[in-house]
Amino acid sequence: MTVDLVITNVNLATATENGQPYGAIEDAALAVHKGKIHWLGPKAQAPTATLLLDAKNAWLTPGLIDCHTHLIFGGNRAHEFEWRQQGVSYTEIANRGGGIKSTVTATRAASDEALLAAAQTRLDALMAEGVTSIEIKSGYGLSLEQELRLLRLARELAQANGVTLCTTLLAAHALPPEFHCKDAYIDHIVADILPAAAHAGLADAVDVFCEGVGFTPAQCERVFAAAKALGLPVKGHVEQLSNLHGSALVAAFDGLSVDHIEYLVEADIARLKTAGTTAVLLPAAFYFLRETQRPPIQALREAGVPMAVATDCNPGTAPQASLLTAMNQACVLFGLTPEESFLGATTHAARALGLSQKGTLAPGQDADLLLWHIQSPAELSYGINLVKPARRWVAGAEQ
Ligand code: NIG
Ligand code: FE
Repeated sequence: MTVDLVITNVNLATATENGQPYGAIEDAALAVHKGKIHWLGPKAQAPTATLLLDAKNAWLTPGLIDCHTHLIFGGNRAHEFEWRQQGVSYTEIANRGGGIKSTVTATRAASDEALLAAAQTRLDALMAEGVTSIEIKSGYGLSLEQELRLLRLARELAQANGVTLCTTLLAAHALPPEFHCKDAYIDHIVADILPAAAHAGLADAVDVFCEGVGFTPAQCERVFAAAKALGLPVKGHVEQLSNLHGSALVAAFDGLSVDHIEYLVEADIARLKTAGTTAVLLPAAFYFLRETQRPPIQALREAGVPMAVATDCNPGTAPQASLLTAMNQACVLFGLTPEESFLGATTHAARALGLSQKGTLAPGQDADLLLWHIQSPAELSYGINLVKPARRWVAGAEQ
């Protein structure tokens, strides 16, 4: 048969376990047909193709996956950055009614057009670096109408840009101004917001902020139970500022991922492994908050818990629209190897989103591909703003 496209004279970083770092296959070829990877292997054995591309020894990787973002929000928090530089902490700012709440006010006041335009700028930056799949959370609306609006806008944004999207309902992000009691707001999420998002088909997963400034494990458990009853997978912002054993709770619900996890304790790591939950590292937030407690990387490694890396792009703790920078930060700040960072933004990120068709170069996978003029895949994590993909394909179509 003749396939649609063969890329030859190419080094493949497959992100699969083939015994080589990065799952590399050097001096190879890869065939694409009907939007999928059809074949890969020694270039002499490549099938005939309608279009043959000589990659001249460049590297081909899976499209990058940013598996944790809060991409859609109004305004910014540059003024809070000024306070923080004068010594006020993130928690103190939150307790003063700043933090997430100030972004909720700005988001509610913004028009759909303004929210989309601001998010487009951030998405452009991510896409230019090779992001082809993204997760976007709600969480700055905090009412039924506003949370659903954010999820709808996320779908609109992704559709207009040809990126794969996973939406996550994060209604349990903070207490909205209309409520004075966290339990009452959780009642509202469980009875109204969650079912509405699920029935509208707007939420692919459900997230919580399990933290002193967020919600207690008991409150998060109620949200997870409601999500599970609706057939939606769960994940959590857990162990970011303190240890409340939110990770064990996520694992008890067979959750997709535990995110942040600076304060994760070893006893809970085995539960993640058993549940098949991915550990999502968010070094941009660690960096921006000048956190000093590092996630237990070595223990996660030893337990064989897959580690993903994401931007956490948000106005409060991670004003950063660069996944490659997050990969660098995961190496420099958390001690990941460049290979671990690469796997973290490809195959493990796919796992954190339940996207089994993405994140690796293998026959049958979606042909989301990036071509890089680099000598080694380590260059993706090595520098800051040094490399960009030269070409990109999504589902086999060049963009
Ligand atoms: O991922 N931790 C909770 N949510 C965000 C921060 C949100 C904000 O400060 O606006 C995070 O760090
Ligand atoms: Fe986050």
